[in-house]
Amino acid sequence: MSTRRKFLLVLGGSAVILAAGAAGFALTRTPHAALKPWRDAGTGDTAIVRALSYAILAPSPHNLQPWAVELLGPEEAALHCRLDRRLPAADPFDRQTVIGLGCFLETLRIAAREAGYRAEITPFPEGAGAPRLDARPVARIRLVAEAGEPDPLFAAILERRTNRGSFDTARPVPAATLDEFARLSPAGAAVLTTTDAATVATLRDVTWRAFETEMLTPAPLAESNAAMRFGKAEIEAAPDGLAMSGAMLEALSLAGILSPATMGDTGSFAFRSGLDMWKKALSTSMAFLWITTPVNDRAIQIAVGAVYMRAHLAATLAGLAFHPLSQALEEYPEMAGPYREVHDLLAPPGHTVQMLVRLGYAPAVAPSPRWPLAERMVGA
Ligand SMILES: Cc1cc2nc3c(=O)[nH]c(=O)nc-3n(C[C@H](O)[C@H](O)[C@H](O)COP(=O)(O)O)c2cc1C
Repeated sequence: MSTRRKFLLVLGGSAVILAAGAAGFALTRTPHAALKPWRDAGTGDTAIVRALSYAILAPSPHNLQPWAVELLGPEEAALHCRLDRRLPAADPFDRQTVIGLGCFLETLRIAAREAGYRAEITPFPEGAGAPRLDARPVARIRLVAEAGEPDPLFAAILERRTNRGSFDTARPVPAATLDEFARLSPAGAAVLTTTDAATVATLRDVTWRAFETEMLTPAPLAESNAAMRFGKAEIEAAPDGLAMSGAMLEALSLAGILSPATMGDTGSFAFRSGLDMWKKALSTSMAFLWITTPVNDRAIQIAVGAVYMRAHLAATLAGLAFHPLSQALEEYPEMAGPYREVHDLLAPPGHTVQMLVRLGYAPAVAPSPRWPLAERMVGA
């Protein structure tokens, strides 16, 4: 039977199951254990562990969760990078990995504030590895009990999601909502946004072409495929990466239509259907946000992570769907064209576009899996 026919049969089968009320089936497919860290947030014996239990919910490239934590006391820790959790093809200089670690530190800072602590964070206390990270610590963290205003963004930590779906094209993003983001700009970086129709059209196009380039370039494609987890059992066994879950995807996976082999075969029906779905979703981007910096060192990448985290949390409070699109910002030869286009359009000469995000309104999506904090501890 052709793959296309099998696909249609599975679709038909799913429709029948859904019509018969498959909510039960769908529920049994939810990877509850892989989502436990979302439920455990705020628990732990010490202030530092409680703050860390929120930090592990931060976003990271391909959800690889590159953090490793060394506890140094009830209010102190060192953050390290798990060097095996980087993306050497898509992110050859570890720029995105460091931004993810910056997201982790900012989440920790916000959670500590909520509990009555100021987090004193010293990035790269022994210096930083460049062009690639090395074994030296990423940050030293010390909590200092101190009165202060709670951070309103705390309320969004458990609700924040990366939303890769189609956005509502009948619902523009109000300029006033976007103005809030510019105010987040830290020293040495700028947070910028647009809803301008011509610029949005150009960005929809270039982000799609960059995405397609990534999917057709063997090394970064292999990295993405290695990060994919198909179905509940795989997700629970390795609660990281890009989770393909839900009744429909499980059915396609069981039928052999969605698998590492078909997703790695650029001629396969599954691969082509996947690309079509992405093209459609990216064509619904309603606004864009981006972060630029005049320098591009490790310290500023950590700061970019912090402001990116704050922007994502602020978008969550504003009810906006938020989806980073990093492909055009990636520094490998095949991406040189889109990289240049995006930089010419969005940044002054010599500056780096560190993050590019599409925004809009969309139905909510499920949280993504996380390893428990205990699995990300070192030297225990
Ligand atoms: C630096 C960085 C770059 C990212 N780039 C992309 C991207 O290009 N496409 C995408 O779909 N998600 C991207 N993400 C989002 C992660 O895939 C996401 O955070 C992770 O899968 C966990 O999901 P969550 O954010 O819903 O918790 C990026 C995240 C970070 C921190």
